[in-house]
Amino acid sequence: MTLRLAVLASGRGSNLQAILDAIAAGTLDAEITGAWSDRKDAQALVRARDAGLPAHVIRPRDFADRAAHDAALFGALDAAGPDLIVCAGYMRLIGAEVLAARAGRLINIHPSLLPDFKGLHTHQRALDAGVPEHGASVHYVTAELDGGPVVAQARVPVLPCDDAATLSARVLAREHPLLLETLRWIAAGRVQLYEDGVHVDGERTLTPLQLAATDRFA
Ligand code: GAR
Repeated sequence: MTLRLAVLASGRGSNLQAILDAIAAGTLDAEITGAWSDRKDAQALVRARDAGLPAHVIRPRDFADRAAHDAALFGALDAAGPDLIVCAGYMRLIGAEVLAARAGRLINIHPSLLPDFKGLHTHQRALDAGVPEHGASVHYVTAELDGGPVVAQARVPVLPCDDAATLSARVLAREHPLLLETLRWIAAGRVQLYEDGVHVDGERTLTPLQLAATDRFA
């Protein structure tokens, strides 16, 4: 069954573009119902419109508080009837009430090997911590910032010559195949969230799926 996706993005939109390209190439059985952003200058909106998709801006400043913004945003998303909401560089916290009503239907991609380096500036923090390895994670969204159950990860080495820019570029190059492969597994019904955690092929997993160099899960 073709997976219906709604995409939330605040900025550049390269992860959205990776999804658009994979759908166009026939390597991901999904359709995008629309893109939504909290920022009207988000490049992601341009990418969505260029692909002929509806692109919407719902700005926090137009609402009295976070709950009102969340309600408007997620009401609009729901109206498009997605199976899954993908936070692809969406840089706002989402309220617990909205999330509780959609448990297991929101995923986020985050540029670190969670639970390490939740929040912002992950690449610089990885460098400062001197870790030998860094990467990206796809996780189900819960009210805890970057704290929901992790589905899958991609790892990259940290090199002695790295700065935040080079490390970020190396991670981003793995984020796109990581997100796509996760979406393929969700579309195929192989990954689900239950109360006790992530299930893969009907069994609860204790460790996240790992992206191999082949861009498939090892
Ligand atoms: C990506 O690196 C994504 O992992 C990160 O924002 C970037 C968006 O890039 N997300 C977060 O930091 C969420 N906590 P993109 O707009 O080019 O897809």
